[in-house]
Amino acid sequence: MFNIENFDLKLNTEFIGRNFIYSDELSSTNTFLMDKENGQTINGTVVLAEKQTQGKGRKDRVWYSAPDSNLTFSILLNKDKALLKEANLINFAASLAIAVSIENLYQLKTDLKWPNDVLLDGKKTCGILIEATSQANKIEKLVIGIGVNVNQNSFQGVFNYPPTSIHIELGRTVEREKLLAEILNNFEIMIEKLKQNKKTVIADWKSRCRMIGEKISIKENDIEKFGMFYDLDEEGFLLLRTKDGIEKIHFGDVFLS
Ligand code: BTN
Repeated sequence: MFNIENFDLKLNTEFIGRNFIYSDELSSTNTFLMDKENGQTINGTVVLAEKQTQGKGRKDRVWYSAPDSNLTFSILLNKDKALLKEANLINFAASLAIAVSIENLYQLKTDLKWPNDVLLDGKKTCGILIEATSQANKIEKLVIGIGVNVNQNSFQGVFNYPPTSIHIELGRTVEREKLLAEILNNFEIMIEKLKQNKKTVIADWKSRCRMIGEKISIKENDIEKFGMFYDLDEEGFLLLRTKDGIEKIHFGDVFLS
């Protein structure tokens, strides 16, 4: 059982998570915040579910997370126009916040995988799914859905990328309340940085991405491209160096090749 009081004691933010919704079960925390009918309009609202019956991953995949052991939550951003303009970089701020939090609390070395996975020992411990609504070409609402494998100690099934959890890597159970508060504290700092100087966020993200400079393959639907992970540009796109030059990649799953 998630102890809201313990979480609240460690939360140090101005607005992220100050409106906190805890649920035993939801179809998906992202769907909950995206659905207007649920009436959630407070900027920075966080909804956490112990169990998701239809947890969503990127590219219409399913996100399965063992109930009561992990963190599956979403954050609503709908107010700050300067921040909403940087929507395509929010995933970098979020994955960076998670990596920094895991390093701060457990001294585990993290690795970031483009566009927004957090790896431990080369395996995926966190995935992020961002959904948005816009009006007249302007984003008016962003929902940042985050799934962190925290205390799950085994994974069954077929995965696009091998999974792990903090428990597996650390060899002990960790306090989810402390981790969630740390993530939200760091996320608020990162989004402020994004508004002040987005280059520093990209630079910090790159410093934790060991695939840069390596030979990679990128799969998008049925197309696979090969080359060298040359760099990230200012908008967060992956620059792939191939024999024909530099190609800007917008989507895809990256693998070392
Ligand atoms: C991915 O790596 O494919 C993204 C996974 C995102 C999962 C989280 S769990 C909380 C939120 N609610 C969802 O339905 N999905 C995101």
